[in-house]
Amino acid sequence: MTDHQQPGGVTGAPVPARIKIDPDFRVGPLNRRIFGSFVEHLGRCVYTGIYEPDHPTADEYGFRADVADLVRELGPTIIRYPGGNFVSNYQWEDGVGPRSERPVRLDLAWKTIETNQVGTDEFLQWCQRLDLEPMMAVNLGTRGITEASELLQYCNAEGGIELADRRAKNGHADPYDVRVWCLGNEMDGPWQMGFKTPEEYARLAEETARAMKRFDEKLELVACGSSNRSMPTFGSWERIVLDRCIDLVDHISAHAYYEPIDGDHDSFLASAEDMDRFISSVVATADHVAAARKSDKKIMVSFDEWNVWFQKRWEGEQKLEIRETSALIEDVYDVEDAVVIGSLLIELMRHTDRVAIACQAQLVNVIAPILTAPGGAAWRQTIFHPFALTAKYAHGVVLNPAVSGPGIDTDRYGEVGALQATTVWNADAGELVIFAVNRDRVRDLDLTVDLGAFADLRIVEHLHIADDDRRAHNSPEQPNRVVPKPGTSTLSDGRLTGVLPAASWHCIRIATSTRSEG
Ligand code: AHR
Repeated sequence: MTDHQQPGGVTGAPVPARIKIDPDFRVGPLNRRIFGSFVEHLGRCVYTGIYEPDHPTADEYGFRADVADLVRELGPTIIRYPGGNFVSNYQWEDGVGPRSERPVRLDLAWKTIETNQVGTDEFLQWCQRLDLEPMMAVNLGTRGITEASELLQYCNAEGGIELADRRAKNGHADPYDVRVWCLGNEMDGPWQMGFKTPEEYARLAEETARAMKRFDEKLELVACGSSNRSMPTFGSWERIVLDRCIDLVDHISAHAYYEPIDGDHDSFLASAEDMDRFISSVVATADHVAAARKSDKKIMVSFDEWNVWFQKRWEGEQKLEIRETSALIEDVYDVEDAVVIGSLLIELMRHTDRVAIACQAQLVNVIAPILTAPGGAAWRQTIFHPFALTAKYAHGVVLNPAVSGPGIDTDRYGEVGALQATTVWNADAGELVIFAVNRDRVRDLDLTVDLGAFADLRIVEHLHIADDDRRAHNSPEQPNRVVPKPGTSTLSDGRLTGVLPAASWHCIRIATSTRSEG
């Protein structure tokens, strides 16, 4: 019997599942930048999302305080900006300087009139006020090395050169010191303004990276990987790009969006399996390039777009009419979507040794954990909760627990384990946190966790997301219809036991006096 076979094969009956945690089995320090998010000039993410000068809660800069409060509660660490597809036809110069003089332009990516009332300075200062790290993207679609290098200088140069002096004149004398830069966005996608062959992109990324690193060799640069794992050139794109750029870049991007396809909810709940294979393939390709060049360089993955997105319901940008800023891709998420988001976060943590950065796409309104009404309320979607709890409680070292239990058959990924879990140990704070998902849509799991390697154990809190109505969602009328609720688990003699209901996500915090191994 494999780890994931179902003993007895009883459909619908609760089945045993087991986790064994040992402090010696470590993946590595948790990269907190995996709790990133994304603000794009798309739909209402910026305008009437984070920024709405006429809103009753608007601050002196025109940004919504109610949204800022929810962003603080959500707890992202790094925010990618300004796109996305938008960046590939963006002229950053339009978005700086006196607002009354900024041109109104047509953004061809989303066929939207862009007023440029929010630009680089407004975004970076909003990040500073919220203590968020910015992650900027440069336009390598319709523009190139000069514009990328000039934006970098505008953001990071000390005074005395024109671009730094321009920034000072625009109200910010100090450099912003942006550390992470994306070299374009999804440059292999035919939907991208100025999309490229791998050879064309590799050459442009190489020369742009060289110029940017000449300014500051400690910058962290992200080369574009494939737009998703099903692109025809997936694998060869990464190889060709890294073959040219491996010495100049630090990370390669990965993007993935998940949804139930043709009603296949078993595969949807197992979406983390795809993310696992995606990360492993990109890492294998990067390591192959390094090996062939006799290099020890470990390129890291920047999973800088990931989420649930019901793309089958979206008409696509081709069909859009040119419009003023208006609602686009405002998906409403249910309980099952929240379980999948929790599961994808577990997968990112499991790969902390090779995933440096991850950004949930996006932050507000557009496929987002936070929704707003123009002039009105802001509220938390279901997917807000697993993100907020994971970002709040995952600190320290990711451990590699042994996980076993029943399997589920999926059309897309074959047999996968119903129980998916990871553990993050904050030795300094004396806290061990188990993040777990029961991906089985039918059967509850009787969970036993062997914690015998840890001393003086106590459950601090067990929160979970599950609901008899998996289609339940939050709304302005019922903003707290779906919230995390206490789970049922008990601890004695180094064993935690509890029930994980079908299709549920869990965060179990355990106090321990164990401070280090041995
Ligand atoms: O996040 C929405 C869009 O999805 C981004 O603009 C693009 O990079 C991706 O295809």
